[in-house]
Amino acid sequence: MKKEVAMKDILQELEDRRGAARLGGGQKRIDAQHSKGKLTARERIELLLDEGSFEEFDMFVAHRCTDFGMENQRPAGDGVVTGWGTINGRMVYVFSQDFTVLGGSVSATHAQKICKIMDMAVENGAPVIGLNDSGGARIQEGVDSLAGYGEVFKRNIQASGVVPQISVIMGPCAGGAVYSPAMTDFIFMVKDSSYMFVTGPDVVKTVTNEVVTAEELGGASTHTKKSSVADGAFENEVEALSEVRRLVDFLPLNNRDKAPVRPFFDEPGRVEASLDTLVPDNPNTPYDMKELITKLADEGDFYEIQEEFAKNIITGFVRLEGQTVGVVANQPMVLAGCLDIDSARKAARFVRFCDAFEIPILTLIDVPGFLPGKSQEYDGIIKHGAKLLFAYGEATVPKVTVITRKAYGGAYVVMSSKHLRGDFNYAWPTAEIAVMGAKGATEIIHRADLGDADKIAQHTVDYEDRFANPFVAAERGFVDEVIQPRSTRKRVARAFASLRNKKAQNPWKKHDNIPL
Ligand code: HXC
Repeated sequence: MKKEVAMKDILQELEDRRGAARLGGGQKRIDAQHSKGKLTARERIELLLDEGSFEEFDMFVAHRCTDFGMENQRPAGDGVVTGWGTINGRMVYVFSQDFTVLGGSVSATHAQKICKIMDMAVENGAPVIGLNDSGGARIQEGVDSLAGYGEVFKRNIQASGVVPQISVIMGPCAGGAVYSPAMTDFIFMVKDSSYMFVTGPDVVKTVTNEVVTAEELGGASTHTKKSSVADGAFENEVEALSEVRRLVDFLPLNNRDKAPVRPFFDEPGRVEASLDTLVPDNPNTPYDMKELITKLADEGDFYEIQEEFAKNIITGFVRLEGQTVGVVANQPMVLAGCLDIDSARKAARFVRFCDAFEIPILTLIDVPGFLPGKSQEYDGIIKHGAKLLFAYGEATVPKVTVITRKAYGGAYVVMSSKHLRGDFNYAWPTAEIAVMGAKGATEIIHRADLGDADKIAQHTVDYEDRFANPFVAAERGFVDEVIQPRSTRKRVARAFASLRNKKAQNPWKKHDNIPL
């Protein structure tokens, strides 16, 4: 006969088990985590989600490995905290790896926990946020842990374009712990305490004899400035988590949902007289395109993606009349705003994210063309530039563009032109739309006069008079309207408002073959 146990003891046992699970790898390891300026897996979830909204799954899951004495080390939860909660009232699924338990390494059961919430996220149409702090596949489990990672990867791929996936790197992440984030939509890092590498400095030393620090190999600076693996880096974990909350506010919960509409306090028809003088008199003098972005946006709020990489193009989110809009803008302050390999890749990925999640795209153009030269050609500018061309051409979301100054050559076509199904293509009166700049054009079409400086100067002026304006394109309907800079916010907001029910489709296909 079953022994009688008092209800209060049963409840107490549950509390005791919960208490033990909450301790993860134990107080000593929690203290070690804190001493590195890092929070615990649970503390991170608390900061990420609305207060008291977290519902945990699988708190008592334990691994089944019996090799290397692992049967004596079976902490409840197996190194990852999973569940769902809300961010400003909107549902998200979350997993948070616990570095205090075997370095957050991924066992078969740890992976199963992540897979469970990923499956639920796809079924219920809510984003997945992964807080990564893991040494990768759990070495003691061998192929079982690799298989577990394979299952996570498979779900990353299946969920791509269905629900937003956001990764925050919050510790040293290696192996699968970087490949899973690599397949998500956004990766954020924490400065000085997070690292991403396929293998760490010790293995690098053994294999290639290179001596490199973790920071150099895979720190936040490396991945936001050099490799572009990460989309942003923050000063500390608190800032990183609060910025993820801010990003989630811009995004729809899934690909069938619309992005949330936020109350706005900014007049949609707000006139910005200062924009009339944004473009300098000298066509070669740079100006800051970010000024235009923040002056257009509701309350000047701009969430920039990949701020530190390929600064000649700017990508990020704003709101217009409370609705999320993705912005792609050439930045004349850097490399004169030209398109090169890095900027084309950066913008193409952003355009595809927006299109996958039905976020309209605003393109602000001041582009002198593609960056010419040996280094760009050797590294494949043709194929990389085609990524952006392809991304704009396949995008069916509302697309509004404003040409502020230069729109030359192939770059004119690429940057959301009418020819690639731009819905509203506006130009400021300062726009210059031509195959190339006047000087280069004159030297080619009047080669015979190259020895005569006066003639060349006259040809250049003639070319400028003919093409350094928006009206030739406007005559052909390639520009829908030439607008006053000061009224850009109003024109753009009205354009997007008129496109709210836009329905455009691509022909049926299994998937496209974007030049990767
Ligand atoms: C089991 C691990 C582990 C792992 C760390 N630990 N990584 N246990 N499997 N993969 C354990 C350590 O043994 C240690 O336990 C504790 O976690 C903390 O680790 P430390 O090394 O003390 O921490 P730190 O010095 O901060 O270094 C962190 C680290 C390093 C850079 C992540 O631990 C490391 O290089 N780990 C191995 C990384 C790796 O090669 N993983 C396999 C990837 S293969 P104790 O008990 O001593 O405190 C992979 C394949 C997937 O993931 C498929 C890809 C396509």
